[in-house]
Amino acid sequence: MKILKVVCENFVAATPEVVKWNSWDSEHLNSVHGAYDAPKYLLTREGEVLFVDRVKVPFFRIRLKCLVFAIQWDSENQITYTLTPFFLAKNTINVQQINDGTTRVRVIYEFSGNWIQALLFPIFKILIQRWNQTVWEEDLPLKLRRQKALSYGFIDFRGIPDKMEMRKDRTGIYKASIPVPTTRNVEEFSHPFFISGRS
Ligand SMILES: [Fe+2]
Repeated sequence: MKILKVVCENFVAATPEVVKWNSWDSEHLNSVHGAYDAPKYLLTREGEVLFVDRVKVPFFRIRLKCLVFAIQWDSENQITYTLTPFFLAKNTINVQQINDGTTRVRVIYEFSGNWIQALLFPIFKILIQRWNQTVWEEDLPLKLRRQKALSYGFIDFRGIPDKMEMRKDRTGIYKASIPVPTTRNVEEFSHPFFISGRS
């Protein structure tokens, strides 16, 4: 078995918890990222999800049916396994606060393949680097907007307090709830096999 490993790194003026919220927010996948089609969740429980989707292969017109399992392994690492008809992929999102205002986001992509598939690894590497940059740029406004909203005292499903004196900066105390709570009856949770460990 051959392994391709690609490491991509970006920095953002937001806390690690805001970055984790963005990674785990299921409702933005379809609307923000062109690569995803219509994720259908099969299982959600605290810190882990399993879903099926048809993911667009970067820079090609084809979509691959994928089974995706993601787990928040520890406070700094989210690990995702993606099974496609052609390969198994693993990616690790590592978040590290490097100073008061900045978080380093390191994504480690790993692909397994036979020696024939390994011939395509140099092309894969370029595609993955471009994929990472595209996804990063699509997600960046969401991270910055949430960071700003938290600084005004934003609370999920309640919004920013109307009264100025109630607008306390919550960026330091905010903890992402994983998986991110959603509104009820959304399309992503309509699969007949869907089960949730949440009440
Ligand atoms: Fe995203």
